[in-house]
Amino acid sequence: MIYQGKGITVEALQNGVAELVFDLQGESVNKFDQATLKELAEATAAIAASDAKGVLVSSAKDSFIVGADITEFLQWFDKDEDGIIGDILAANEIFSAFEDLAMPTVVAINGLALGGGFEMCLSADYRVMSTKAKVGLPEVKLGIFPGFGGTVRLSRIIGADNAIEWIASGSEKRPDAALTDGAVDVVTEPDALHDTALALLERLISGEVDYQNRRQAKQGKLQLNNIESMMVFETAKGFIAGKAGRHYPAPVEAVKTIQKHANFDRDKAIAIEAKGFAKMAKTPVAKNLIGLFLNDQKIKKIAKDHIKQSKDVSKAGVLGAGIMGGGIAYQSASKGTPIMMKDIAESGLQLGLDEAAKLLSKQVERKKLDVRGMAQTLNRIRPTLSYGDFGDVDVVVEAVVENVKVKKAVLAEAEGQLRDDAILASNTSTISITELATALKKPEQFCGMHFFNPVHRMPLVEVIRGEKTSDETIATVVAYAQKMGKTPIVVNDCPGFLVNRILFPYFGGFAMMLRDGANFEDVDKVMEKFGWPMGPAYLMDVVGIDTGVHAQAVMADGFPERMKQDFKSAMDVMYAEERFGQKNGVGFYRYEIDKKGKPKKVSDEKAHELVASVRASENDISEDDMINRLMIPMCLETVRCLEDGIVNTAAEADMGLVYGIGFPPFRGGALQYIDDIGVAAFVEMCDRYSDLGKLYEPTDKLRDMAKNGQTFYG
Ligand SMILES: NC(=O)c1ccc[n+]([C@@H]2O[C@H](COP(=O)([O-])OP(=O)(O)OC[C@H]3O[C@@H](n4cnc5c(N)ncnc54)[C@H](O)[C@@H]3O)[C@@H](O)[C@H]2O)c1
Repeated sequence: MIYQGKGITVEALQNGVAELVFDLQGESVNKFDQATLKELAEATAAIAASDAKGVLVSSAKDSFIVGADITEFLQWFDKDEDGIIGDILAANEIFSAFEDLAMPTVVAINGLALGGGFEMCLSADYRVMSTKAKVGLPEVKLGIFPGFGGTVRLSRIIGADNAIEWIASGSEKRPDAALTDGAVDVVTEPDALHDTALALLERLISGEVDYQNRRQAKQGKLQLNNIESMMVFETAKGFIAGKAGRHYPAPVEAVKTIQKHANFDRDKAIAIEAKGFAKMAKTPVAKNLIGLFLNDQKIKKIAKDHIKQSKDVSKAGVLGAGIMGGGIAYQSASKGTPIMMKDIAESGLQLGLDEAAKLLSKQVERKKLDVRGMAQTLNRIRPTLSYGDFGDVDVVVEAVVENVKVKKAVLAEAEGQLRDDAILASNTSTISITELATALKKPEQFCGMHFFNPVHRMPLVEVIRGEKTSDETIATVVAYAQKMGKTPIVVNDCPGFLVNRILFPYFGGFAMMLRDGANFEDVDKVMEKFGWPMGPAYLMDVVGIDTGVHAQAVMADGFPERMKQDFKSAMDVMYAEERFGQKNGVGFYRYEIDKKGKPKKVSDEKAHELVASVRASENDISEDDMINRLMIPMCLETVRCLEDGIVNTAAEADMGLVYGIGFPPFRGGALQYIDDIGVAAFVEMCDRYSDLGKLYEPTDKLRDMAKNGQTFYG
């Protein structure tokens, strides 16, 4: 044994080969935490002092190394730029020392090698990759870019143009793509990986294959002449800036960094990379994207705790084959759970099946699925007009029309047809779960399961606990949502549940702003620039103005003090004119079908006239006012949901908004947004808008938090 640590061991094999194995004790994956980095330094020194003639690097886990330990980032990035640069340069010395070992090195990549894990691979002379592995540098997804020499080594190995694509997209690369670009040297079947890598190392040790030249090339300048350099970098910067968008600076900064270090040897180049890395690490975007990652881990952990008591869901059912029912059936089937789909109309069933077939055909077109897979998935959806085969389903999701009477009747009827221990869930977007439960004999086996439209694309599922819902019911529905590939968040019952309760005050702020003179197209532009995928008028059109007006009435009923509108809103006139939005081609915008068959929005004079008809005054509203007048009601309602126990943690509230309605991810969610402004500054800001009414009134507890200097994320 040459070295023995908690995450790394080095053993002497035959023929002078030392094998360095990553196997972090007590963890399911390997990652580069501070301790492992330190061990890599020690292991490298031990190898240098041994009589080893070559090094084989491998992993004893299913993955190779999944990356740096992100849980250490926030604290680390609290340091100033110089502090961060100091740390990252110290880490780089470890990778460079490994790269400089006076013997050849080969890495056997058996599974995921991402971020720091892949940078480890790049430090070796040769890379052999299993057909099962994936490699990549996904750092930009956290608002930073590779800092363990990744921008330097990858650009030298695969060329600046390829490296820019790898780093700026942050994508995970399959073996064929990695081989084509030259990021790995050999791809083999998993079984042959170790032997292939070992055989290659032996040829390097014997001198049959050279490694010195390629090592020197990797440590030198980028091979580019000036014109090429101009072309590659200048074109890339424009293109990548366009793709990443104004709020995500890291991809462009990565390109600039590669450009800056192109003319330098390794050590100077790494110093340049470190500077750019530290600059990105200090951005609020990085802080929030890392926070988002950590919140995602937190909500996964919470879901894991919930499902401890879950029962198996091997067959499901859905009632109603409309937009949502069809989507739910598709999603369940495509993730492997067979589902019965019941409707009262043959035409409804056909629509649901057609929708599923359309989604599957697209996947076949994109080569993500073969025709056999498509047939298998479709076979998992059993359309029916009767309850005949519902006797053995484990969970049934009700997705019929949004009407209390109809839903109660359907739920009660279904309960009579199901197995005794089967669970019922409703996909209602507004009706109280506790209220619907009054129609049932076993309210404890009932809860809400609120999907978002379109089901296949939106990651969130709200699992709503009614007054009588049992823990086992919640557990099973959470487990089913996860099985469907969704992110479940458990919330308590109230009008609008979590997400719609928070969204409607935002629409309420919007309605008041239109009343006071704002132009909705301007508001949309400002909010899209702020980071929303679509502005409020466009969003209302997509949700459906009829749906919006109905939900607004439910919310006003539930929270009259804040949400009742004492004026006729632009949405009300649109509704009266039967302008329901995208679904019937006119709303705030007019929708034309583009060449790809997708609805494209265009300005519509009539819509502006209608909005003007309910305008009370003609104020000039600044961009800042537009943002504040929309964001304050949304943020305050999120605070209330947390205070009222609708949601248990800040992480769940914020992730609900990001996954449910596309809250700008780089802003981290509504509570993170308040934290970033500062709770005291936020409360002051609310007070400046107090004449707009209760939607802008901070809670007493928030005022206390402001006074005591508290934050949501500590
Ligand atoms: N559309 C959305 O954006 C959205 C989002 C989240 C939740 N929801 C909720 O999902 C539910 C369904 O909405 P949708 O948009 O899919 O509606 P939809 O009108 O497209 O579909 C409803 C379907 O239910 C069928 N149906 C009616 N009575 C039935 C019965 N007794 N048994 C079986 N089927 C019956 C209808 O024939 C129709 O096919 C509603 O509660 C809605 O609030 C909708």
